[in-house]
Amino acid sequence: MSEPYQTIRVEKDNGITWVIFNRPEKRNAMSPQLHFDMDDALGALAKDDETKVLILTGAGAAFSAGQDLKEYFRETANNPELREKSQAASNRWRWHRLVHFPKPTIAMINGYCFGGAFTQVCGCDIAIAADEASFGLSEVNWGVIPGGIVSWNIAEMLSHRDAMFYAMTGLPFDGRKAAEIKLVNYSVPLAQLREEALKIAKVLMEKNPAALRATKEAVRHVRGMNHDQAQQYLAAKLSELVAKDKDKGMQKGLSQFLDDKSYRPGFGSLKN
Ligand code: ACO
Repeated sequence: MSEPYQTIRVEKDNGITWVIFNRPEKRNAMSPQLHFDMDDALGALAKDDETKVLILTGAGAAFSAGQDLKEYFRETANNPELREKSQAASNRWRWHRLVHFPKPTIAMINGYCFGGAFTQVCGCDIAIAADEASFGLSEVNWGVIPGGIVSWNIAEMLSHRDAMFYAMTGLPFDGRKAAEIKLVNYSVPLAQLREEALKIAKVLMEKNPAALRATKEAVRHVRGMNHDQAQQYLAAKLSELVAKDKDKGMQKGLSQFLDDKSYRPGFGSLKN
């Protein structure tokens, strides 16, 4: 397919849409143009029926080396209009479009992942890394804090000890360590990473899309609620799902298990 984007590639393959940061010569650092491209792409893909699962990764040796220190910071310092526009796009695609993407999202961390790039790792529903990937909260190494929303993300995702250790030392760590501290679900050798991402994507595509969307919203939103609020919210969320699900997945699932005895929900998905 022809690409309307300068800094990313969008590739569609049987329900799986790959969104690939494509500035390998700059280690996929996030320039203003990359933010504009991602903002447009995620807006369009959210409504795209061909996209059932989205996988976010990087071309070449990097997932992303974080914000582009030259183009995003230095070159916008005297251009408040571009700075504001870039910042708005940067925040919108990572804090809103990605976090609230209506289909499942997988971050596939193939290499370098620094600073601001943690935001999109934490914004995806699932994350897997290459054992050989190199992560780092490098902000402190050049004299700033993990800003944007990075400190919030690591405080949510990691233990307090690990968040503080890596934010304060700026020490890099590999994919195995990222899995151990639960920044990612797990890691595999780089040579197997793509196959592993495809395997997860295929598992997700067997599920009822409405149930998946409601599930990701539910799990993400209950984090900030107390016990009673979560009970009320989840009851309303289930009613919403049953009312909105045009495929009537719940009724199908009950009937296939209780009447046809054609599947066991404990071991896999209903037949669509
Ligand atoms: N911003 C701008 N340019 C970058 C960035 C970045 N974040 N990362 C890499 N580049 C550029 C380099 O300037 C270089 O450009 P050039 O060829 O025009 O000189 C090119 O990408 C390749 O970089 P190298 O350093 O030569 O590549 P190497 O593979 O040796 O190292 C690494 C890769 C470790 C990622 C290194 O480039 C690096 O430390 N980058 C900065 C990482 C960082 O701290 N990111 C910012 C986090 S803070 C935030 O996001 C708010």
